[in-house]
Amino acid sequence: MLRQRRREQGKEPCVPESITITDNRTGEAIEVPIVDGGVDAAAWRKLLPNVWFLDPSFSTTAATTSAVSEVDGENGILRYRGYPIEQLAEHSTYLEVAYLLLHGELPTPGEYAVWMDEITHHTYIHERFRKRFMESFLHDAHPMGMFVSTIAALSTFYPEAKEIEDPENRMHQIVRLIAKVPTVAAAGARFNTGLPFVYPDNNLDFASNFLSMMFKIAEPTYECDPAFRRALDLLLITHADHGQNCSTSTARVVGSAHTDPYSVIAAAACSLYGPRHGGANQAVMEMLDEIGSYENIDPFIKAVKAGQTRLMGFGHRVYKNYDPRARIIKQAAYDVFEVTGSNPLLDIALKLEEVALADDYFVSRRLYPNVDFYSGLIYQSMGFPTEMFTVLFAIARTAGWLAHWVELLEQDSRIARPRQVYTGSKERNYTPIGERS
Ligand code: ACO
Repeated sequence: MLRQRRREQGKEPCVPESITITDNRTGEAIEVPIVDGGVDAAAWRKLLPNVWFLDPSFSTTAATTSAVSEVDGENGILRYRGYPIEQLAEHSTYLEVAYLLLHGELPTPGEYAVWMDEITHHTYIHERFRKRFMESFLHDAHPMGMFVSTIAALSTFYPEAKEIEDPENRMHQIVRLIAKVPTVAAAGARFNTGLPFVYPDNNLDFASNFLSMMFKIAEPTYECDPAFRRALDLLLITHADHGQNCSTSTARVVGSAHTDPYSVIAAAACSLYGPRHGGANQAVMEMLDEIGSYENIDPFIKAVKAGQTRLMGFGHRVYKNYDPRARIIKQAAYDVFEVTGSNPLLDIALKLEEVALADDYFVSRRLYPNVDFYSGLIYQSMGFPTEMFTVLFAIARTAGWLAHWVELLEQDSRIARPRQVYTGSKERNYTPIGERS
């Protein structure tokens, strides 16, 4: 806008907002406008049929337009529907943020009350489903494996979820999913530790209810420390959405096949499970444990620089600056440690960050702490088993995945179907097995 105004005032030269592509084989050229920082691949396709834009890992490809969250990696900025993450972290709650992501606007007090009521009254899962399905896992099943399977299996309980064209039905499934993911997550964790299932408590807010389902033993009402409740809410807010990341892209690809939302969320959670994505918070804690003390930091950094391992919780495909979520979470860690006493691994993490940020290997590659560098420390101090960290991420990101799923369906997109550049054998004839040497 500013540039356009300056041009109109004659203060800036008039540069066309377009690119020109020339096919040197034919001399044909086309001019393609640059709109909102993107060029339409359909124009490329028209000039160059059967010549594909080769972009493994989609580093240069915008797979969609989206109005859900804005990630400015160069400047370390994250906004949900235009609201800076710092403001939401300071003033909002996870459920309000989930509403914002899904509806595009912050709720009025009346809308918020209805939304909270709806979520609170959809937290239960079918008893038989929990007992017959969830309790059939091995006692040491990873809770993330249990989570993805259970969410996928929920689609069999709600077959009407397939009616994805009906916005009212869609919203009903969204409420169910946001309400039930903490119940499923906590049920998996309790099963793992051999503790009895704790039913959701309608008198508690979203974060406290989850903490109650995780940690309640015999007390009539679980009283959670306000610092824990706030820290958990903050972690949920900061993990709620993040543009077209790996798991959100998975949700969109699966959603583009018009699959039901339970299967969409399960598929997205499978992507999140990997150590390069949502599994990084668990990997960070394992790394800090392995380093164990200050004197092992230098040899560890040497091993990273030699390419033998990665500094987990560092680096990001989009952020080439400090991840704004890491800054918020680092502060929240101090608030939790005021209650629990410091986590000895925090000192190692702080030193590791200091060493890395002063080292040319990390500086030149613009590798900074990401959202997962400090989150595991908080989770551990609050008593969550390490295997639960990625599940916590999945609970938060469910709101974002669903917001993108709705956006996708409203965009009336075509099924996702990338091309490939084939590099295999040319046509050859089948040889019967007896004639092969
Ligand atoms: N430790 C050491 N070196 C790294 C790291 C790291 N964590 N991350 C990137 N690099 C190096 C690479 O070796 C490469 O170096 P080179 O140019 O000499 O080959 C360069 O930095 C660029 O790395 P890429 O792998 O191309 O970066 P990419 O964008 O593909 O990967 C990723 C991003 C997967 C997040 C990567 O930084 C990583 O593996 N980080 C550790 C895992 C992690 O923390 N993941 C959580 C991400 S946040 C999230 O998903 C919620």
